[in-house]
Amino acid sequence: MTFLETRELGKAYGQAQILKDISLSVERGDVLALIGPTGSGKTTLLRLINLLDEPSEGSVIFDGVNITALPEKEKIRARRRMAMVFQKPVMFKGSVRENISFGLNVRKMGDPRKVDESLRAVGLDSFGSRIASTLSGGEMQRTALARALVLEPELLLLDEPTANLDPKSAASIDRLIHDLSRKTTVIMATHNMQQCHRLADRVAVIREGRLTGLGRPEEVLAAVMKQDESFSLPSVTW
Ligand SMILES: Nc1ncnc2c1ncn2[C@@H]1O[C@H](COP(=O)(O)OP(=O)(O)OP(=O)(O)O)[C@@H](O)[C@H]1O
Ligand SMILES: [Mg+2]
Repeated sequence: MTFLETRELGKAYGQAQILKDISLSVERGDVLALIGPTGSGKTTLLRLINLLDEPSEGSVIFDGVNITALPEKEKIRARRRMAMVFQKPVMFKGSVRENISFGLNVRKMGDPRKVDESLRAVGLDSFGSRIASTLSGGEMQRTALARALVLEPELLLLDEPTANLDPKSAASIDRLIHDLSRKTTVIMATHNMQQCHRLADRVAVIREGRLTGLGRPEEVLAAVMKQDESFSLPSVTW
């Protein structure tokens, strides 16, 4: 059974139609990359899947259930099977360790060993007692990723997970995402076409709120490059 599906999903803010007719699906354990020019609607789509915003049209089917139609309490239960890492990570007050434990405590799953494991996974072993607001942008991004990983979500939504990282840290996060896949289903918005190529099982192209391409990375990226001369794999421009 398809693990996650969006059916004719749409979102409007006032007169502005931001997303329209997005129908795509992800199988359990797969990595789906969302690519497209800035402002095309990738973050909006992730937020709709995560039930942070309500769609104007269409539905999100998660593990066979239309979660957009659920009562609030059951929506919360569905959301607890997912975790999202935001494009602009927000740190809570307190230490890195407190930031990472937060979701575990809310979900009453507190286990300090898990916190250590997730810190190690993102290369922040020695950062547990640092005040989170003093971290660099890349360290915050990795903390946000650890905060999501520690929850062991079935569906991980990543919004440009390596955008603030130097190439070495980005490569280690890529490896981590690669290792997660199969066990965890990942939907990841990215401007990094090499990352997309390396990690994604399938790629969805979003332009001006519409799904304009869907398929295996090599097919989709080749088609995009043909259509759009300004687009190139290494320089990642649209
Ligand atoms: N709450 C909102 N109210 C009005 N417009 C919004 C709102 N949220 C997003 N938008 C608009 O929707 C469009 C899509 O935004 P979105 O953040 O989804 O793009 P994106 O593909 O993630 O872009 P980027 O690659 O720059 O992150 C943008 O024009 C944005 O300004
Ligand atoms: Mg975005």
